[in-house]
Amino acid sequence: MNIQQPAAKVNWATGNLEGKKVSKTVRKLKHLEGVFADEEAYSSMDPETVVYEVEVLEQEQPGKEGGLLFGTSYLYPGKVGDEYFMTKGHFHEKRDRAEYYWGIRGSGLLLLMDEQGVTTAEQVFPGSLHYVPGHIAHRLVNTGSEVLAVGACWPSDAGHDYGSIADRGFTARVKESGGKAATETG
Ligand code: PA5
Ligand code: NI
Repeated sequence: MNIQQPAAKVNWATGNLEGKKVSKTVRKLKHLEGVFADEEAYSSMDPETVVYEVEVLEQEQPGKEGGLLFGTSYLYPGKVGDEYFMTKGHFHEKRDRAEYYWGIRGSGLLLLMDEQGVTTAEQVFPGSLHYVPGHIAHRLVNTGSEVLAVGACWPSDAGHDYGSIADRGFTARVKESGGKAATETG
């Protein structure tokens, strides 16, 4: 029997993925226009500032039915005005596709919003495990002072629908107030 190498190697302390099929996406402030509430603060910042990076093990072709994708997101600490750095957030293009998230490093919140615009939040910390059902938009927020690393596993045909979030946004924002993270709805 021929013993093969595994699909990839994961550093479980940092989330880092190593393997031939690992892709990496870098999201800078310039890619996040319209995401943060304080437009003045946004335009005064360096557009090259890296807000988050995503490594994805593309063991299956994204879009293919029946497979799974696996990734790590690294969301850096920072704020635009008083609003913490966050991911763009998305519904899945195939709305009923679910996903698992888990906290690896750092601390933050996972915002979960249903199609009626009702948003809830879960605390993210090393070891936290989050089930994101289908039809639920999801966004990570780094409320801490170190990198927030979060693992994820989702169906390879889920896709990302960013458009609905860009149009309507999330109905809750996470801002620093009196030195602490506070959610703001509306
Ligand atoms: O599949 C996921 O939900 C994650 O891997 C996200 O894509 C990742 O956290 C980046 O967020 P977004 O896709 O909203 O920019
Ligand atoms: Ni997703």
